[in-house]
Amino acid sequence: MRKQAMTQRQLRDRIVWTFQRRACFTRLCMPAAAAIGIVAVLAAKTFADAAGTGPGLRAADFVALQDRLGEFSGKLPDPAAFGADRIVAFEENGHFVYVAGEKGATLTRRLVYLKPGVFIVDDVAPAAAEKKLERSLRVIRVRGSGKEVRLDIEPIEAPAAAAEVTAAAGEKTFQLRLPASPDAAGSIAARLADGKAILPERPLPAGVMPHGPAGVRMIERWDAAYRDDRRPPWDKGFPSSHLKAAVESGTVAPGRAVVLGCGTGTNAIYLAKRGFDVTAVDVAPTALARAQAKAKEAGVTLRWLLADVTAPPAGLEPFDFIFDRGCYHGVRRGNARGYVEAVKKLSRPGTQMLILAGNANEERHYGPPRVKEEELRGDFSGSFDFVSLKTIRFDPMDADDEGAMAWFALLRRKENE
Ligand SMILES: C[S@@+](CC[C@H](N)C(=O)[O-])C[C@H]1O[C@@H](n2cnc3c(N)ncnc32)[C@H](O)[C@@H]1O
Repeated sequence: MRKQAMTQRQLRDRIVWTFQRRACFTRLCMPAAAAIGIVAVLAAKTFADAAGTGPGLRAADFVALQDRLGEFSGKLPDPAAFGADRIVAFEENGHFVYVAGEKGATLTRRLVYLKPGVFIVDDVAPAAAEKKLERSLRVIRVRGSGKEVRLDIEPIEAPAAAAEVTAAAGEKTFQLRLPASPDAAGSIAARLADGKAILPERPLPAGVMPHGPAGVRMIERWDAAYRDDRRPPWDKGFPSSHLKAAVESGTVAPGRAVVLGCGTGTNAIYLAKRGFDVTAVDVAPTALARAQAKAKEAGVTLRWLLADVTAPPAGLEPFDFIFDRGCYHGVRRGNARGYVEAVKKLSRPGTQMLILAGNANEERHYGPPRVKEEELRGDFSGSFDFVSLKTIRFDPMDADDEGAMAWFALLRRKENE
């Protein structure tokens, strides 16, 4: 379905390589203190080039940034912290590029690249003992060209725990909500001067999203299924009868749950209503925005993460229960190993996992991707015991229809794996 997403390490290596190539070309050397800002911008350029969709970056922007590093880095809370940068979140699309990097617990920098020469830099140093959180939030504009290039740095005053930022970039005006805590990704929206929304409010990424041409296309394909109030065939609007049976029989007890590929959140909201502490993950921003609205209406609180299930954000504690309806069977075609490694990270010995996936024992020319029993067993039996593996049918949209044949796979993480 798509190429395997790069690991964070591969991403960082590629970014560093990109920097070295550019630095050599321009005969400049990079002060370590400002590494992440430059590196992140160059990363944005590289991926935007590769995808042919991003905003792109001019060489002049890079030179200008280099020229103004003293001023730029002098305003950072702890410039020396950027000697060894780390990218923790990344997304590019047709409207913006987002990069977040951090150095241990010392400093998080978010960079949102809105168009050539216009970006937002948000530095947050967490509160040291008895000192309050330090934050420096700026809109930076690169003006002019050649030797006349200069940076206009517009500080955003008094950034509170969740700063609201409005930034004009060409014909678009972006509205961002940037919580100070790096655990909460925030949101972004864009409109034209006449008020027309060209990017409805949506979450910013909470991990390294699929990127490069294949990754960008993959996100676009999933997101398009939900845009303009579209209702894709799997989005039934009622919780899975199989999930309900597992919960209501007591097979799965309330605890910390993660829903992988949650779509518009019906099952995640159901679990939250049943007393689970729910985190829900999807790559489609429109689906997540709709899920958030549904949860608000239902009066429940969940943690929604715009993230790739094969590269979940670091630092999530292991969950008691993992639920997946319809995500694994697609993801495994491009990156089965990445999926299995991710669920190992998200689980602990004893964690239960319920997967509902297309079943290859039925031959159909349409419907969900299908998985063979030996593929399921091959993917999971190294780390999970199969508590139950049975053939079911996905819930049909109408009572008259017959849903596609599916697997009900209830797994338990092994004690010693
Ligand atoms: C067939 S839909 C199922 C949605 C939901 N589970 C349901 O039952 O309504 C698959 C979902 O997985 C999401 N998805 C696909 N690949 C993903 C990935 N690598 N990481 C996170 N979500 C992904 C898609 O955006 C989509 O919402």
